[in-house]
Amino acid sequence: MTVALEIRNLHVNVEDKPILKGVNLTVRQGETHALMGPNGSGKSTLAYSLMGHPNYEVTGGQILLDGVDLLELEADARSHLGLFLAFQYPVAIPGVSLANFLRHAVNAHRKAVDPDDGGMPIPEFRKMLKAKMDLLEMDHSFAGRYLNDGFSGGEKKRAEILQLATLEPKIAVLDETDSGLDIDALRIVSEGVNALAGPDLGVLVITHYQRILNYVKPEYVHVMFDGQIAESGGPELALRLEEQGYDWLREKNGSS
Ligand SMILES: Nc1ncnc2c1ncn2[C@@H]1O[C@H](COP(=O)(O)OP(=O)(O)OP(=O)(O)O)[C@@H](O)[C@H]1O
Ligand SMILES: [Mg+2]
Repeated sequence: MTVALEIRNLHVNVEDKPILKGVNLTVRQGETHALMGPNGSGKSTLAYSLMGHPNYEVTGGQILLDGVDLLELEADARSHLGLFLAFQYPVAIPGVSLANFLRHAVNAHRKAVDPDDGGMPIPEFRKMLKAKMDLLEMDHSFAGRYLNDGFSGGEKKRAEILQLATLEPKIAVLDETDSGLDIDALRIVSEGVNALAGPDLGVLVITHYQRILNYVKPEYVHVMFDGQIAESGGPELALRLEEQGYDWLREKNGSS
């Protein structure tokens, strides 16, 4: 059966200030969605809320994955259920190689399913990792680097996509803010998403770049505006934003 991430009338406060004001969005396995919108409209807040970040207080609404209420669960349990979140500013973990980090993540998932699982044997893991890196056309030496330590913006994106490929989530949310990241980073993410896309993966890419349509082909485009999804459509919506900016949406939504 197809698994869906369902966000229903979600309200979120940050430091007692309402930021998300009733977000409704459903992403199913096999679908690719893009979420756009001006700075400060609440896109990252949505991503952090999905993860269960403690600074983001859900004051109303629901988040369901495969019918399970995520709001009751910690971040790691959400991940074990098949939700993957990649962040704008990933943390560096000097001394831990990307390969080791990924192996621990894979084993934690296996253990969540079966508490007696002893972890994936290392040769099997290495083989799997190499296959994923080949799929993503990555140099194998990359996995030996310390996680995000001195990674360039583009390398962080590569690490993120490798993590996505290795964990095989059902729904992935990728927050790609422009700051510090050039158009190459978007291309890396887009090509990775294209390589991994299929009936078992649903993707929500948060992006500023209308040019995303040149790389990834979202079937659905949504625009966040003042804490709500103000507009949803197909790829033509991203083209309209490219041509006309956000002013028409501002007018439509009654703010100056
Ligand atoms: N930890 C926080 N503390 C205070 N305010 C916050 C915090 N996180 C978010 N906000 C506020 O919430 C609003 C939405 O921010 P958010 O980061 O979700 O926007 P965004 O749509 O992701 O913007 P951008 O396109 O610039 O990435 C902003 O006004 C921001 O200042
Ligand atoms: Mg953001």
